[in-house]
Amino acid sequence: MNSFDIQSAQTDLQNKNPLSILKAALENFDNIAISFSGAEDVVLIDMALNIKKDIKVFSLDTGRLHPETYQFIEKTRSHYQIDIELLTANRKVLDPFVKEKGLFSFYQDSHQECCGIRKVEPLRKKLSQLDAWITGQRKDQSMDTRQDIPAVQIDTVFSSNEKQLIKFNPLLNWNSAQVWDYIEAYQVPYNKLHKKGFISIGCEPCTRAVLPNQHERVGRWWWESGNKKECGLHAENIKK
Ligand code: ADX
Ligand code: SF4
Repeated sequence: MNSFDIQSAQTDLQNKNPLSILKAALENFDNIAISFSGAEDVVLIDMALNIKKDIKVFSLDTGRLHPETYQFIEKTRSHYQIDIELLTANRKVLDPFVKEKGLFSFYQDSHQECCGIRKVEPLRKKLSQLDAWITGQRKDQSMDTRQDIPAVQIDTVFSSNEKQLIKFNPLLNWNSAQVWDYIEAYQVPYNKLHKKGFISIGCEPCTRAVLPNQHERVGRWWWESGNKKECGLHAENIKK
């Protein structure tokens, strides 16, 4: 536990720009990492490196990402000369799951079980070693689940009895156009899928391109009904 004053940080940071929120995150926590999805949240890495050189970055390698995303993770690694830790599922859980249910069970059973094994549990393991983490969540990514995300919060899903985990969402107030302005202005590398109609990018079998004017979230787990689509990484968004 640290002496970080979450309440005053929430008041101070809520309407701040991404750089100010990132600065507060990196200045208050040493044991902190950026959770990088391999999409346009690359801007977090670009900004963070302007604040501090030795940032920690990890990606959840579900084993089901698009080839373009793997290539992009590699490109990000070499472009910025940083290490990106890849977190994979526990094979002792994954192998029996695949043996029993096959590789596409999410189309029948919904995505929760597969996401639980390939994303949530590896993330839980990683977060248990950190004091804080940084995500690329934005309000405009979902009208249904992300409108109330704060700049900084106690992560109620991944905190444990022993340790309170803090979560920063520096991009919360930016919209997609602002992110893309930044990418263009600062020549930030980006995932080639964005040129093929993909906006929100997750795993290959569970993400598809969207039509112009369709909301980005429509391309995720499109076969499932209901609007409250979260995979478990940000489950506090649907707790209320
Ligand atoms: S998801 O929960 O629906 O998959 P989304 O794709 O909107 O999330 O991304 C929001 C943020 O969650 C990303 O900016 C990133 O911080 C984190 N995230 C999502 N997918 C991954 C991943 N595969 N590895 C690491 N972080 C991820
Ligand atoms: Fe599995 Fe799809 Fe979730 Fe990826 S997004 S972990 S493939 S259900």
